[in-house]
Amino acid sequence: MEIVAPQPDVHTRSLLDMIGNTPLLSFKRSARRVAPARIYAKAEWYNPGGSVKDRAALAMILDGERRGLLTKDKTIIDATSGNTGIAYAMIAAERGYKVKLALPKNASPERKQCLRAYGAELILTDPGEGTDGAQRHVRKIVDENPAKYFYPDQYNNNANWRAHYNTTAMEIWRQTEGQVTHFVTGLGTSGSFMGVTRRLKELNPAIQCISMQPDAPLHGLEGLKHMETALVPGIYDPTIADEQVEVSTEDAQLMVVRLAREEGLLVGVSSGANMVAALKVAEKAKQQNPGRDPVVVTIFCDSAAKYLSESFWQEIASEAENWP
Ligand SMILES: Cc1ncc(COP(=O)(O)O)c(C=O)c1O
Repeated sequence: MEIVAPQPDVHTRSLLDMIGNTPLLSFKRSARRVAPARIYAKAEWYNPGGSVKDRAALAMILDGERRGLLTKDKTIIDATSGNTGIAYAMIAAERGYKVKLALPKNASPERKQCLRAYGAELILTDPGEGTDGAQRHVRKIVDENPAKYFYPDQYNNNANWRAHYNTTAMEIWRQTEGQVTHFVTGLGTSGSFMGVTRRLKELNPAIQCISMQPDAPLHGLEGLKHMETALVPGIYDPTIADEQVEVSTEDAQLMVVRLAREEGLLVGVSSGANMVAALKVAEKAKQQNPGRDPVVVTIFCDSAAKYLSESFWQEIASEAENWP
């Protein structure tokens, strides 16, 4: 019998190659009121872990390996409100590492189930302390046994924002053929805002970069931080934003429902907040510079899959009939 050597299959891709290069979405109805301004959003749920955080997690893990800090005997540990954890857990499973994650007890059940499905060990922390409490918890564990862990510390790791400097920003530049005039996104670790802003400003210093935050310390914009009252990430530099906008949880939830009904897009609450911010930015830009049609880009960080059990879907549905 003739034995035929397997040929490399040009049609297959490895899981980690699927991170990045997400589509740039345009809108049918939701952006109509700001026309001729255009709004686009990066569809980050196309990443294999389902969120924008795949990019940062991969960059931090590869950076740890390159610097010899992450070896096969180490457990990856970090604090995460969910999406970075899912990304770590997915990448770690693929690369053969153990993962331990601290997250507030009130993180959605879907997130916890997903993390456990990938084989991650969970430490559930005080919900009242949010992700800040989870961060403090992880620091304590690492301090007690530093040799056992690789602690990427997404809030203080330059590989986080560099992931977006190297990938997200370049994709936005290429996908808009250099026409982007404004970039706006919400701040969590701030990695996506910092990285994209730094690169876009290098490519064209006239691009306006606007950061978005929840309008109150207690909010429902999972993944985002109210910087004034939160533990401020070390990688965050507030001076690079041209402007800041605030969005309420209610407006973000309303937009999430609206995007589902008007566009067929099931996105997460921070994406809804980003869309509200993008519309505000487009409106203002049109007024300030009537001769030039703004091209506003934002990020849809994840899909609605992890938020479908939230009550706002029913509460807001009745308002849907009265939208302009
Ligand atoms: C759903 C969601 N939106 C937005 C963000 C914020 O992204 P970044 O950490 O890059 O600021 C995160 C971060 O975890 C997130 O999970």
